[in-house]
Amino acid sequence: MALSLLLIYGEKSKMREILMKTRPQDLDSILENYPRRPQHLIGVLQDVQAAFNYISPEHLARICDHVGVPVTQAWSVATFYKSFSLEPRGEHSIKVCLGTTCHLKGGERLAEACERDLGIERGQTTADQRFSLDTVKCVGACAEAPVVMVDEDYLGRASISSLKKEFKRR
Ligand code: FES
Repeated sequence: MALSLLLIYGEKSKMREILMKTRPQDLDSILENYPRRPQHLIGVLQDVQAAFNYISPEHLARICDHVGVPVTQAWSVATFYKSFSLEPRGEHSIKVCLGTTCHLKGGERLAEACERDLGIERGQTTADQRFSLDTVKCVGACAEAPVVMVDEDYLGRASISSLKKEFKRR
């Protein structure tokens, strides 16, 4: 089961990598892909998030100007969805599951180990911008608890040593 999850999500991760490489890396190129209409707000936000790993205040202002929505509206959308970040995020996202099952199977210990190993607290990003650490509540893979998500990959039956290896591999 763990292997199949890794395979499924590993493929997704590879696809995301390919998309990131082919995606335009400057804001103008992204904006050019979208007509100047409010209904494209989320699409533009998604592309900017994917390209820059966060949405800066300057980006938000330009996006609003392009699609014609007030900054307050775009800000509400960007803060409502967890997939958007208004602060710089690490290249890799580490999410330790602390849902009930994972908590019972040592999730908290894993979260503490991540904090020690990465030298940051939950909600923070390493100084070299490589990793961001967060905790989440149940990622829907309780049978594989404790689970840690590294980018799009689900690491089932995670242990401190498997996490350390994963951090080195990234
Ligand atoms: S509690 Fe962690 S996957 Fe469900």
